Amino acid sequence: MKKNATVITYGCQMNVNESAKIRKIMENLDYNMTEDIESTDVVFLNTCTVREGAATQIYGKLGDLKRVRDKRGTKIIITGCFAQEQGKKLLEKFPYIDIIMGNQNIGRIPEALDEIESNKKVKHVILTEYEEQLPPRIDADFDNKITASISIGYGCNNFCTYCIVPYVRGRERYVPMAEIVEQTKEFVKKGYKEIMLLAQNVNSYGRGLSKEETFANLLQNICDIDGDFIVRFVSPHPRDFTDDVIDVIAKNPKIARCLHIPLQSGSTRILKLMNRGYTKEQYLALIDKIKTRIPDIAITTDIIVGFPQETEEDFLDTLDVVRKSKYDTAFMFMYSIRQGTKAAEMDGHLSDDIKHERLQRLIALQTEISKEISETYAGRVERVLVEGPSKKNKDVLSSRTSTNKIVLFEGDKSLEGHFVDVKINECKTWTLYGELVQE
Ligand code: 5AD
Ligand code: SF4
Repeated sequence: MKKNATVITYGCQMNVNESAKIRKIMENLDYNMTEDIESTDVVFLNTCTVREGAATQIYGKLGDLKRVRDKRGTKIIITGCFAQEQGKKLLEKFPYIDIIMGNQNIGRIPEALDEIESNKKVKHVILTEYEEQLPPRIDADFDNKITASISIGYGCNNFCTYCIVPYVRGRERYVPMAEIVEQTKEFVKKGYKEIMLLAQNVNSYGRGLSKEETFANLLQNICDIDGDFIVRFVSPHPRDFTDDVIDVIAKNPKIARCLHIPLQSGSTRILKLMNRGYTKEQYLALIDKIKTRIPDIAITTDIIVGFPQETEEDFLDTLDVVRKSKYDTAFMFMYSIRQGTKAAEMDGHLSDDIKHERLQRLIALQTEISKEISETYAGRVERVLVEGPSKKNKDVLSSRTSTNKIVLFEGDKSLEGHFVDVKINECKTWTLYGELVQE
């Protein structure tokens, strides 16, 4: 009988992508993939460590898994950023973990499993080295058959002072352009309709490669591939958002009309402490330029409140930028201390109460803006990509606009994975409701 394996994913799109690769590796080893932890023989926790909350969740899950392991000898493998950061320290609290590995090493899963299973003397395998190498290419399939993601680069050289990523994902390294274009072609041929390009800093793409291998050229080459599909990418860095990239987006409708441009803070003083490399004015000028050249663009962002030394005045600058940028949505976080980063050593850490209070005010403002933007869709006809039945109501289809707005409408399940036109009748803050426009 086939053995079962399970992959549980935390964190960002990069982890979602790498979890798909882990599944592929396990299928190649003849495992059957299941989501049922009670009946699994090998379980992977693909972890995140970008904020404190992530670790707490993982500790809870590891506690849970001990019971399953005691019952049926399930092997426990911990991968991802938290595993890379903690390494063998994890064994002090959780001695029953079998394998600890950073995601640059997932290609070594077969040998690590073999070592644990065939050599009784081996209690644990720890693979946190090779942080500077490109992981091997593994062609995974993605669950929904609509969106495929491609890692175009790994690691980060920016060292924003709050961020643990450069310490757990190593230095920047990029995948050759020809390989990415080839992979995109294969995904489009397989029927995927949305291609998501991933890197910690997508618009530094090409550093260390040939002169032609720039992010703008990569986007253009991908758009030149025949077929009906949409391209998204996360995340660009505002400092590296060059004009050639804006031009390529402007002239290629295949590129989604939604850009994620992390602000982090609206205060020039705090941005400097964060080592972000731009001022409030430079950021606003970039947003202005993008909106002028690509008028139908939606912009989303990431914001941290309560960074060390942030005053009320600094925070008001953040609110000011939020008002002026008019984000469609924002991911908003309270600053969370990460040991080993520069910000952790700074003076002037703020209390949770202040961070909380600022976060609530920021969320209130952003919600108002999101609602306002949603309401502008009333009566419009939008081309959407149908993702499948809505999670809440199976009789309704869930789809997305190029600007990444969710649109629900009644329609046949056979439309899944197709682009269709929908007329928007009702606009709620986070969801639009419409009807299919018959061709
Ligand atoms: N505290 C709070 N938020 C953080 N982020 C990264 N590090 C921290 C931290 N220490 C946020 C940033 C980043 C997003 C992925 O997570 O906003 O863009
Ligand atoms: Fe972290 Fe800054 Fe690199 Fe993003 S750009 S991963 S926030 S260090």
